[in-house]
Amino acid sequence: MSLPAVILVGGQGTRLRPLTDRTRKDMLPLVDRPLLSYTLEHLGRYGVEHAVISCGYLPDQIEAAFGRGLTGLSLDYAVEKTPLGTGGAIGFAARSVDGSFFALNGDSLREADLAELVAFHRSTGAKATILLTPVADPSRYGLVRTAADGRVETFLEKPRPEEIDTDLINAGLYVLEPEVLELIPPGRPVSIEREVFPRLASEGSVYGIALPGYWLDVGTPESYLQAHRDVLERLFPTEVGNALGADFTLVDPAASVDPGARLVPPVYVGPDAVVETGARLGSLAVLGAGSRLAAGGVVENAVVGSRATIGAGCSVVGSIVGDDAELGSECELHNLAVVGPGASLGGGNVLDHGLRIGAGETIPAKALRFS
Ligand code: GDD
Ligand code: MG
Repeated sequence: MSLPAVILVGGQGTRLRPLTDRTRKDMLPLVDRPLLSYTLEHLGRYGVEHAVISCGYLPDQIEAAFGRGLTGLSLDYAVEKTPLGTGGAIGFAARSVDGSFFALNGDSLREADLAELVAFHRSTGAKATILLTPVADPSRYGLVRTAADGRVETFLEKPRPEEIDTDLINAGLYVLEPEVLELIPPGRPVSIEREVFPRLASEGSVYGIALPGYWLDVGTPESYLQAHRDVLERLFPTEVGNALGADFTLVDPAASVDPGARLVPPVYVGPDAVVETGARLGSLAVLGAGSRLAAGGVVENAVVGSRATIGAGCSVVGSIVGDDAELGSECELHNLAVVGPGASLGGGNVLDHGLRIGAGETIPAKALRFS
């Protein structure tokens, strides 16, 4: 099986600000590589040899990282003049594709057996088959009601609370037949979720199936941390997770960890990162490439991007520090605090309760106290 794929990467990622101020959402790092890498690896594992990256705006960062593709998976780019919505984007990007194809949202993480999905798709003769996944709260997603044989009865994007009567939602990955493209008028924004799937459901030609496997929508700081935990705990099976080995510890050979520092697994230390004496990194912590955790600092259940500095005696717990950010000594970050890329915090600041510092902002010493 080698279906081509269209990967949608047009969205803005506003709920992940300020992390997305300088890096597009799909290119934010997850442990040691961009989020989008996991999607490409997943497709590659199931024999996908060609994918079109469908972009609502310029894909510079994606092209810089992936260029024309990875081993065994070639990439093309379809850039819309103005964003065409999920359906319009699929129609635009699939012009160059023949036969059945995968279409997927590039902003969620998943591990599902795509061969099984295609086999199910063929067995029903559907025009479209949607991968489904259960979630606790379907309100932010596309709710999908199916008959016992998997035929979709209703597709309801962003259901109201009183409309929620199943936990199954659209996991953002489809097998589509070329006939679906006929339902997408060119030249104007079209939502596949609000226009195309409801129409296919009314004619009984779209099916859905929930397959076992990991799924996570990475849309908020909370889910961004969750994704890191799941990779580090190997709940989401990945190449990086495997590289952590039996001791759940991956220290890049070019990193430097002082013998007087402590690493508590699961933990990842990137290339050229430095952990100084008396510091503790972990558990569930990532210190990105070229970053420094100074003496006596603690980073736990937290993510520090690349080239950042965590000053002496800082405590970063359940929080996120963006690339190139600097924390002076004795700062405390707790409960989903987010320091944007390139921000600079003077010593002794305390950030709590989801407080977010914008990209490049400068905060004087001891200006913020939330205790
Ligand atoms: N090329 C392009 N052009 N891509 C777009 C456009 C566009 O105009 N608009 C959105 N996208 C991309 C986004 O980047 C994302 O990867 C995907 O299409 C879905 O759009 P979102 O804006 O992220 O939608 P959502 O998260 O609210 O809901 C979608 O995903 C859920 C699962 O995470 C829907 O597909 C739901 O039904 C689904 O449950
Ligand atoms: Mg989304």
